[in-house]
Amino acid sequence: MKKSFKKLYYLFKRILIQMRCSSVKLGSGSVVRSGMTFEGYNHIGANCDLSGSIGKYTYMGNNCKLNAHIGRFCSLASNIQILNSTHPTKDFISTNPVFYSVNRQCGITFVHENRFDEYIYADINHSISCIIGNDVWIGENVLIIGGVKIGDGAIIAAGSVVTKDISDYTIVGGVPAREIKKRFDDDSIKLLLHLKWWDKDDSWLKDHAKEFDNITNLKGWIL
Ligand SMILES: CC(C)(COP(=O)(O)OP(=O)(O)OC[C@H]1O[C@@H](n2cnc3c(N)ncnc32)[C@H](O)[C@@H]1OP(=O)(O)O)[C@@H](O)C(=O)NCCC(=O)NCCS
Repeated sequence: MKKSFKKLYYLFKRILIQMRCSSVKLGSGSVVRSGMTFEGYNHIGANCDLSGSIGKYTYMGNNCKLNAHIGRFCSLASNIQILNSTHPTKDFISTNPVFYSVNRQCGITFVHENRFDEYIYADINHSISCIIGNDVWIGENVLIIGGVKIGDGAIIAAGSVVTKDISDYTIVGGVPAREIKKRFDDDSIKLLLHLKWWDKDDSWLKDHAKEFDNITNLKGWIL
Protein backbone atom coordinates (compact mmCIF):
# COMPACT_ATOMS: atom_id res chain seq x y z
CA MET A 1 0.00 0.00 0.00
CA LYS A 2 2.80 2.39 1.10
CA LYS A 3 4.81 1.41 -2.02
CA SER A 4 1.98 2.06 -4.46
CA PHE A 5 1.28 5.44 -2.80
CA LYS A 6 4.96 6.35 -3.29
CA LYS A 7 4.76 5.25 -6.96
CA LEU A 8 1.68 7.39 -7.50
CA TYR A 9 3.35 10.35 -5.78
CA TYR A 10 6.39 10.16 -8.08
CA LEU A 11 4.18 9.68 -11.15
CA PHE A 12 2.25 12.81 -10.21
CA LYS A 13 5.53 14.69 -9.62
CA ARG A 14 6.86 13.57 -13.03
CA ILE A 15 3.73 14.83 -14.75
CA LEU A 16 3.95 18.12 -12.85
CA ILE A 17 7.59 18.69 -13.88
CA GLN A 18 6.77 17.96 -17.52
CA MET A 19 3.77 20.28 -17.43
CA ARG A 20 5.92 23.07 -15.98
CA CYS A 21 8.68 22.60 -18.57
CA SER A 22 7.60 20.82 -21.76
CA SER A 23 11.20 20.33 -22.91
CA VAL A 24 11.94 18.10 -19.89
CA LYS A 25 11.16 14.40 -20.35
CA LEU A 26 11.37 11.91 -17.49
CA GLY A 27 11.36 8.18 -18.22
CA SER A 28 9.07 5.80 -16.41
CA GLY A 29 10.00 4.98 -12.83
CA SER A 30 12.35 7.96 -12.55
CA VAL A 31 12.32 9.72 -9.20
CA VAL A 32 13.17 13.39 -8.71
CA ARG A 33 13.98 14.49 -5.16
CA SER A 34 12.69 17.73 -3.69
CA GLY A 35 14.40 20.94 -4.76
CA MET A 36 15.73 19.41 -8.01
CA THR A 37 15.90 21.90 -10.89
CA PHE A 38 15.97 21.36 -14.67
CA GLU A 39 17.15 24.15 -16.94
CA GLY A 40 15.39 22.75 -20.01
CA TYR A 41 15.82 20.30 -22.90
CA ASN A 42 16.68 17.54 -20.44
CA HIS A 43 15.74 13.99 -21.37
CA ILE A 44 16.06 11.53 -18.52
CA GLY A 45 15.82 7.77 -19.12
CA ALA A 46 13.86 5.24 -17.08
CA ASN A 47 14.41 4.39 -13.41
CA CYS A 48 16.74 7.27 -12.58
CA ASP A 49 16.97 8.77 -9.10
CA LEU A 50 18.05 12.40 -9.18
CA SER A 51 18.63 15.34 -6.90
CA GLY A 52 20.47 18.63 -7.34
CA SER A 53 20.33 20.49 -10.64
CA ILE A 54 20.73 19.81 -14.35
CA GLY A 55 21.80 22.41 -16.91
CA LYS A 56 20.20 22.87 -20.30
CA TYR A 57 20.67 20.29 -23.08
CA THR A 58 22.02 17.70 -20.62
CA TYR A 59 20.50 14.25 -21.01
CA MET A 60 21.03 10.74 -19.66
CA GLY A 61 20.12 7.10 -20.18
CA ASN A 62 18.50 4.66 -17.78
CA ASN A 63 19.24 3.66 -14.18
CA CYS A 64 21.33 6.68 -13.22
CA LYS A 65 21.53 7.56 -9.53
CA LEU A 66 22.95 11.05 -9.26
CA ASN A 67 22.89 13.69 -6.55
CA ALA A 68 24.88 16.45 -8.17
CA HIS A 69 25.01 19.84 -9.77
CA ILE A 70 25.35 18.90 -13.43
CA GLY A 71 26.30 21.51 -16.01
CA ARG A 72 25.02 22.22 -19.51
CA PHE A 73 25.42 20.10 -22.67
CA CYS A 74 26.46 16.94 -20.80
CA SER A 75 25.87 13.50 -22.32
CA LEU A 76 25.39 10.81 -19.71
CA ALA A 77 24.97 7.18 -20.69
CA SER A 78 23.08 4.55 -18.64
CA ASN A 79 23.96 3.01 -15.24
CA ILE A 80 25.93 5.93 -13.83
CA GLN A 81 25.97 6.23 -10.06
CA ILE A 82 27.42 8.57 -7.51
CA LEU A 83 28.29 6.67 -4.36
CA ASN A 84 27.06 8.86 -1.61
CA SER A 85 27.98 7.33 1.68
CA THR A 86 31.01 5.72 3.18
CA HIS A 87 32.10 3.41 6.00
CA PRO A 88 35.15 3.85 8.24
CA THR A 89 38.32 2.41 6.72
CA LYS A 90 40.62 3.11 9.65
CA ASP A 91 40.51 3.42 13.45
CA PHE A 92 37.11 1.69 13.76
CA ILE A 93 37.39 -2.02 14.54
CA SER A 94 34.41 -2.86 12.30
CA THR A 95 33.01 -1.27 9.14
CA ASN A 96 29.46 -2.27 10.16
CA PRO A 97 27.17 0.70 10.93
CA VAL A 98 25.66 -0.90 14.05
CA PHE A 99 28.77 0.48 15.80
CA TYR A 100 28.52 4.08 14.55
CA SER A 101 25.17 4.94 12.96
CA VAL A 102 21.67 5.47 14.33
CA ASN A 103 20.22 4.78 10.87
CA ARG A 104 19.57 1.10 11.67
CA GLN A 105 20.77 -0.20 8.28
CA CYS A 106 20.18 -3.79 9.42
CA GLY A 107 17.21 -2.95 11.66
CA ILE A 108 19.18 -2.38 14.85
CA THR A 109 21.97 -0.21 16.23
CA PHE A 110 24.24 -0.47 19.30
CA VAL A 111 24.78 3.30 19.56
CA HIS A 112 22.59 6.22 20.62
CA GLU A 113 24.23 8.85 18.43
CA ASN A 114 26.14 8.93 15.14
CA ARG A 115 29.82 8.30 15.80
CA PHE A 116 31.06 8.52 12.20
CA ASP A 117 30.09 10.81 9.31
CA GLU A 118 28.83 8.27 6.76
CA TYR A 119 27.57 11.07 4.46
CA ILE A 120 30.86 12.94 4.52
CA TYR A 121 30.64 13.63 0.76
CA ALA A 122 27.12 15.00 0.69
CA ASP A 123 25.64 18.32 1.71
CA ILE A 124 23.37 18.50 4.72
CA ASN A 125 20.27 17.28 2.80
CA HIS A 126 22.28 14.60 0.95
CA SER A 127 21.06 16.22 -2.28
CA ILE A 128 24.49 17.15 -3.67
CA SER A 129 27.69 15.18 -3.36
CA CYS A 130 29.36 15.90 -6.68
CA ILE A 131 29.88 18.77 -9.11
CA ILE A 132 29.88 17.91 -12.81
CA GLY A 133 30.96 20.62 -15.25
CA ASN A 134 29.67 21.54 -18.71
CA ASP A 135 30.05 19.47 -21.89
CA VAL A 136 31.01 16.38 -19.89
CA TRP A 137 30.54 12.96 -21.51
CA ILE A 138 30.19 10.03 -19.10
CA GLY A 139 30.19 6.53 -20.62
CA GLU A 140 28.11 3.54 -19.63
CA ASN A 141 28.47 1.86 -16.18
CA VAL A 142 30.50 4.52 -14.41
CA LEU A 143 30.74 4.80 -10.62
CA ILE A 144 31.74 8.10 -9.06
CA ILE A 145 32.83 8.30 -5.44
CA GLY A 146 31.03 11.23 -3.79
CA GLY A 147 32.89 14.46 -3.21
CA VAL A 148 34.71 14.62 -6.53
CA LYS A 149 34.60 17.50 -9.00
CA ILE A 150 34.46 16.72 -12.69
CA GLY A 151 35.82 19.54 -14.82
CA ASP A 152 34.33 21.12 -17.94
CA GLY A 153 34.76 19.08 -21.10
CA ALA A 154 35.89 15.92 -19.27
CA ILE A 155 35.23 12.45 -20.68
CA ILE A 156 34.88 9.39 -18.43
CA ALA A 157 35.39 6.09 -20.25
CA ALA A 158 32.85 3.29 -19.95
CA GLY A 159 33.18 1.11 -16.84
CA SER A 160 35.37 3.54 -14.88
CA VAL A 161 35.42 4.11 -11.14
CA VAL A 162 36.19 7.77 -10.48
CA THR A 163 37.88 8.34 -7.13
CA LYS A 164 39.52 11.76 -7.65
CA ASP A 165 38.76 15.13 -9.22
CA ILE A 166 39.03 15.23 -13.01
CA SER A 167 40.51 18.35 -14.52
CA ASP A 168 38.97 20.23 -17.43
CA TYR A 169 39.08 18.57 -20.87
CA THR A 170 40.71 15.40 -19.56
CA ILE A 171 39.75 11.89 -20.70
CA VAL A 172 39.97 9.36 -17.87
CA GLY A 173 39.33 5.64 -17.75
CA GLY A 174 39.79 2.46 -15.74
CA VAL A 175 39.48 1.32 -12.15
CA PRO A 176 40.49 3.56 -10.51
CA ALA A 177 40.09 6.10 -13.32
CA ARG A 178 43.41 7.53 -14.51
CA GLU A 179 44.17 10.16 -17.11
CA ILE A 180 44.23 8.70 -20.62
CA LYS A 181 44.90 11.98 -22.39
CA LYS A 182 43.79 15.60 -22.76
CA ARG A 183 41.18 16.33 -25.40
CA PHE A 184 43.04 19.33 -26.80
CA ASP A 185 46.35 21.19 -26.48
CA ASP A 186 46.78 23.61 -23.55
CA ASP A 187 46.14 26.75 -25.63
CA SER A 188 42.85 25.40 -26.99
CA ILE A 189 41.72 24.38 -23.49
CA LYS A 190 42.54 27.87 -22.22
CA LEU A 191 40.49 29.40 -25.04
CA LEU A 192 37.54 27.07 -24.37
CA LEU A 193 37.52 27.89 -20.67
CA HIS A 194 37.74 31.58 -21.48
CA LEU A 195 34.98 31.43 -24.08
CA LYS A 196 32.56 29.28 -22.04
CA TRP A 197 30.49 28.65 -25.17
CA TRP A 198 27.90 26.79 -23.07
CA ASP A 199 26.85 30.11 -21.55
CA LYS A 200 26.15 31.68 -24.97
CA ASP A 201 22.54 32.18 -25.98
CA ASP A 202 20.79 29.82 -28.35
CA SER A 203 20.96 32.16 -31.34
CA TRP A 204 24.78 32.40 -31.01
CA LEU A 205 24.96 28.60 -30.71
CA LYS A 206 22.75 28.09 -33.77
CA ASP A 207 24.83 30.55 -35.81
CA HIS A 208 28.07 28.79 -34.88
CA ALA A 209 26.82 25.17 -34.82
CA LYS A 210 28.42 24.29 -38.18
CA GLU A 211 31.83 25.44 -36.92
CA PHE A 212 31.75 23.11 -33.91
CA ASP A 213 33.38 20.38 -36.00
CA ASN A 214 36.90 21.77 -35.75
CA ILE A 215 38.72 23.09 -32.68
CA THR A 216 40.82 25.43 -34.86
CA ASN A 217 37.69 27.52 -35.50
CA LEU A 218 37.82 28.66 -31.86
CA LYS A 219 40.41 31.37 -32.49
CA GLY A 220 38.09 33.03 -35.00
CA TRP A 221 35.32 33.28 -32.40
CA ILE A 222 37.56 34.98 -29.84
CA LEU A 223 39.01 37.63 -32.19
C1 LIG B 1 37.32 6.53 -23.76
C2 LIG B 1 36.61 6.38 -25.10
C3 LIG B 1 35.72 7.59 -25.30
C4 LIG B 1 37.62 6.30 -26.22
O1 LIG B 1 38.27 7.51 -26.44
P1 LIG B 1 39.36 7.62 -27.63
O2 LIG B 1 39.90 9.01 -27.60
O3 LIG B 1 38.77 7.15 -28.90
O4 LIG B 1 40.49 6.66 -27.05
P2 LIG B 1 41.15 5.35 -27.69
O5 LIG B 1 40.13 4.37 -28.12
O6 LIG B 1 42.16 5.83 -28.68
O7 LIG B 1 41.89 4.76 -26.42
C5 LIG B 1 42.91 5.46 -25.75
C6 LIG B 1 43.37 4.59 -24.59
O8 LIG B 1 42.31 4.49 -23.63
C7 LIG B 1 42.05 3.13 -23.34
N1 LIG B 1 40.61 3.00 -23.08
C8 LIG B 1 39.59 3.12 -23.96
N2 LIG B 1 38.41 2.90 -23.36
C9 LIG B 1 38.69 2.61 -22.08
C10 LIG B 1 37.88 2.24 -20.97
N3 LIG B 1 36.56 2.16 -21.08
N4 LIG B 1 38.49 2.03 -19.81
C11 LIG B 1 39.82 2.11 -19.69
N5 LIG B 1 40.64 2.43 -20.71
C12 LIG B 1 40.08 2.67 -21.88
C13 LIG B 1 42.48 2.39 -24.61
O9 LIG B 1 42.73 1.04 -24.33
C14 LIG B 1 43.71 3.16 -24.99
O10 LIG B 1 44.78 2.74 -24.16
P3 LIG B 1 46.29 2.71 -24.73
O11 LIG B 1 46.63 4.14 -25.07
O12 LIG B 1 47.08 2.17 -23.58
O13 LIG B 1 46.27 1.85 -25.94
C15 LIG B 1 35.78 5.08 -25.22
O14 LIG B 1 36.62 3.96 -25.08
C16 LIG B 1 34.63 4.97 -24.23
O15 LIG B 1 34.78 4.51 -23.10
N6 LIG B 1 33.47 5.43 -24.69
C17 LIG B 1 32.24 5.36 -23.94
C18 LIG B 1 31.22 4.55 -24.76
C19 LIG B 1 29.90 4.51 -24.09
O16 LIG B 1 29.80 4.32 -22.89
N7 LIG B 1 28.87 4.73 -24.87
C20 LIG B 1 27.52 4.73 -24.30
C21 LIG B 1 26.61 5.70 -24.98
S1 LIG B 1 27.12 7.39 -24.87
